[in-house]
Amino acid sequence: MDSIIVNGGSELHGQIHIAGAKNAALALMPVTLLTEEPLTLTNTPRLSDIRTMSQLLQSLGAEVTALNDGRVVALSSHGLTSTRADYDIVRKMRASNLVLGPLLAREGRAVVSLPGGCAIGARPMDIHTTALEALGAEIELKDGYLHAEARGGLKGAVVPLRFASVGATENLLMAATLAKGSTVIENAAREPEIVDLASCLRRMGAQIEGDGTSRIEIQGVDRLSGATHPVVTDRIELGTYMLAPVIAGGEVECVGGRLDLVTAFVEKLEAAGVEVEETQVGLKVRRANGRPSAVDVVTEPFPGFPTDLQAQMMAMLCTAEGTSVLEERIFENRFMHAPELMRMGADIEVHGGTATVKGVERLKGAPVMATDLRASVSLILAGLAAEGETQVNRVYHLDRGYEHVEEKLGAVGARIERVKER
Ligand code: EPZ
Repeated sequence: MDSIIVNGGSELHGQIHIAGAKNAALALMPVTLLTEEPLTLTNTPRLSDIRTMSQLLQSLGAEVTALNDGRVVALSSHGLTSTRADYDIVRKMRASNLVLGPLLAREGRAVVSLPGGCAIGARPMDIHTTALEALGAEIELKDGYLHAEARGGLKGAVVPLRFASVGATENLLMAATLAKGSTVIENAAREPEIVDLASCLRRMGAQIEGDGTSRIEIQGVDRLSGATHPVVTDRIELGTYMLAPVIAGGEVECVGGRLDLVTAFVEKLEAAGVEVEETQVGLKVRRANGRPSAVDVVTEPFPGFPTDLQAQMMAMLCTAEGTSVLEERIFENRFMHAPELMRMGADIEVHGGTATVKGVERLKGAPVMATDLRASVSLILAGLAAEGETQVNRVYHLDRGYEHVEEKLGAVGARIERVKER
């Protein structure tokens, strides 16, 4: 397994180009299952998760072609040959469960493995299944697989979600576009990736209103046409790279960054004394004067502070002035980066869903272990300013969500290299 070596101490200066959003692309790709016409996605990020989703869709009979070095993905599904998403692929990537809604809408049946536990939590699918059952699907759990049927097709309904689940909102939204009659999703997730999915579906002829709010209304249509759709900027990659100059010092411009995608996150950065400036091409970040100040963080569904930026924020707060309290309200086990940061000299106390971080002057480089996608990048961020060398192992987690992280950080002055496993 490859590892990434970071030598701390270099200030960062220059531009980092932000890619298309992984979590938007993973919801947009299954949309091909809703139509026989071609769907072309542009600005797609070049990540292993995208390749995994491509393999899954191909296993169902869809044609998926990466063009222009992976920045464009052309999809079409004339005749599907399978409606089964196997455990070995769903286990690797939970987003595979996003074929459930489209397969039910298109074929009237689907067999999708439950994802099983992952590093950050149990991640059940009860909200997905309850929502699709409200549209008339019959779903039974057998040998670890959800066996779903919608004999006679799906029918629109009012569907209240017990929690604003991103994936459940996406599965329901895709299924409802082809259901008979109208569907209302109450307590829908409001993430920008939901808005991106809805705008792609609208291009294809879907009738959707209210995406981005807690109440989404969908009027079912008989069929959807093809479309070409640009994937929205990745707000989590954006927030990750905005933290790099805050930790290492210097000034970095994140090209393609949009303030409206990271409002709650930027409010916290500014409270910590960081200057964020909107420019012609993106967002410029500089550490105003000396160490950032401690701030408290609570993760919430959008538009609150994103759970996917919690680990990266903790890495920054490890060397802030003062004591910060981070509360993780979305996942039950998302502090695995804390013990690794403590190996670097961070002063962190974790009690259940709350982590208390006392800022120290400087961290010390150490060999550390990546456990999940966002934890691994938080260790790289911590290494940027640590004394000496930090070796982050198991970076396959990283490659799932960050394209060429060593190139992007190296280009602005970080001393970072990837060591291929011998
Ligand atoms: C999406 O996961 C993202 N993944 C996650 O990003 C992100 O952390 C999460 O939303 C929250 O923003 C993709 O978009 C591919 P949820 P998702 O359903 O849809 C519980 C990353 O690093 N829940 O909103 O799976 C669940 O266990 C990944 O890019 C149920 O209990 O998130 C969790 O505690 C990590 N039952 C909470 O809700 C359900 O049926 C939020 O889950 C569904 C979810």
